Amino acid sequence: MAKLGNFPPSGDYAFPYRDLVGAQVLVTGGRGTLGAALCRGFVSLGAKVWCLDVSAVGDEPDTAGVIHRVADVRERSSLQAVQAEIALGEPLDVLVNAHGIQIRSDFAGCDEDTWMTLTDVNLNGVYRSCQVFGEPMRERGGAIVNIGSVNGVVVSGKGTPYGIQKAAVSHLTKVLAVEWAPLVRVNAVAPTAIPSGMTRDLFANPAYVSSKVQSIPLKRAGTEEDIVHAVMFLASSASGLVTGHTLMMDGGLSLV
Ligand SMILES: NC(=O)c1ccc[n+]([C@@H]2O[C@H](COP(=O)([O-])OP(=O)(O)OC[C@H]3O[C@@H](n4cnc5c(N)ncnc54)[C@H](O)[C@@H]3O)[C@@H](O)[C@H]2O)c1
Repeated sequence: MAKLGNFPPSGDYAFPYRDLVGAQVLVTGGRGTLGAALCRGFVSLGAKVWCLDVSAVGDEPDTAGVIHRVADVRERSSLQAVQAEIALGEPLDVLVNAHGIQIRSDFAGCDEDTWMTLTDVNLNGVYRSCQVFGEPMRERGGAIVNIGSVNGVVVSGKGTPYGIQKAAVSHLTKVLAVEWAPLVRVNAVAPTAIPSGMTRDLFANPAYVSSKVQSIPLKRAGTEEDIVHAVMFLASSASGLVTGHTLMMDGGLSLV
C-alpha cells in the first residue's frame, strides 16, 4: 500500500517518485489536455488512476490503468457517487484538481451568469472535490495538488474573473494545508500559458504566442511535461516537507 502525505523523502534520488508506484490517484478534468497528461504520467509510474471529467470525450488518457468516470464538480452528488465506488476498494492517496473553464472578461464587464459559472467550476468545484475526495485522506494520509494559475498571482488582460478564482484556490490550498495537517499535504501549481483545450484559440494566433513568449523571462510557454513533473513532485514524498505552497510554473513571468 502506498504511503503518501506526511512522510520524509526516501533519499532515492534516482527515482524520487517511487512512493507513487501503486498509489491510487484521482485526477479531476482528466480528459482535458493537462488532466490527460497527468493521468498518463501517473499510469507510467505504476499508479492506479481514476479520471473524472464532466465530458466523456476529449483527450484520451492511456486507457490501460485508467478508470474513467463522468462526473461534474458542480454537483456534489456526482462526486459522492465516484467516492462511494472508490471506497469499495483501496483508498485514494493523491487528489489532483485539474478541472477548469475559462470565459475571458474584464471585471467590470463580467455579467452575473458568467461570474457564477466560472466560480462554480474553478473555485466551488475545488471546494467540493477536496471535501468529497480529500476528507477521507485525513485518516491515513495523502497529498492534494490543485492546479491554480499565474493569473491568480499577477493581473493579466482579460483573465480577470478566472484569475480571482485561481487566487482563491491558492488561499484554499493554504487553509486546507493547515486544517488537514499533519497527515495530508495540500499544494498547488500555478502554470503560465500552455497549449491546451482551454487556450487553443490563443495559441492559434501567432501574434499572441510571440508576445506571450517575449513576456516570459525563460522565453517559452509551458508544456504538459512541465506540469506533470511539478504535480508528481508535490504528490510524492520528494516534497515531504512542503505544504500550503503554490509552485509557480511560469518561466519567471510573475517576477517581472
Ligand atoms: N492551459 C493553460 O494555459 C493553463 C494555465 C494555467 C492554469 N491552467 C489550469 O489547468 C487546468 C487544466 O486545464 P487545461 O489547460 O488542460 O484545459 P482543458 O480545457 O483542456 O481541460 C479542462 C478539463 O476540465 C473539465 N471540466 C470542465 N468543467 C468541469 C466540471 N464541471 N466537472 C468536471 N470536469 C470539468 C473539461 O471537460 C476539460 O476536460 C485547469 O484548472 C486550468 O484552469 C491551464
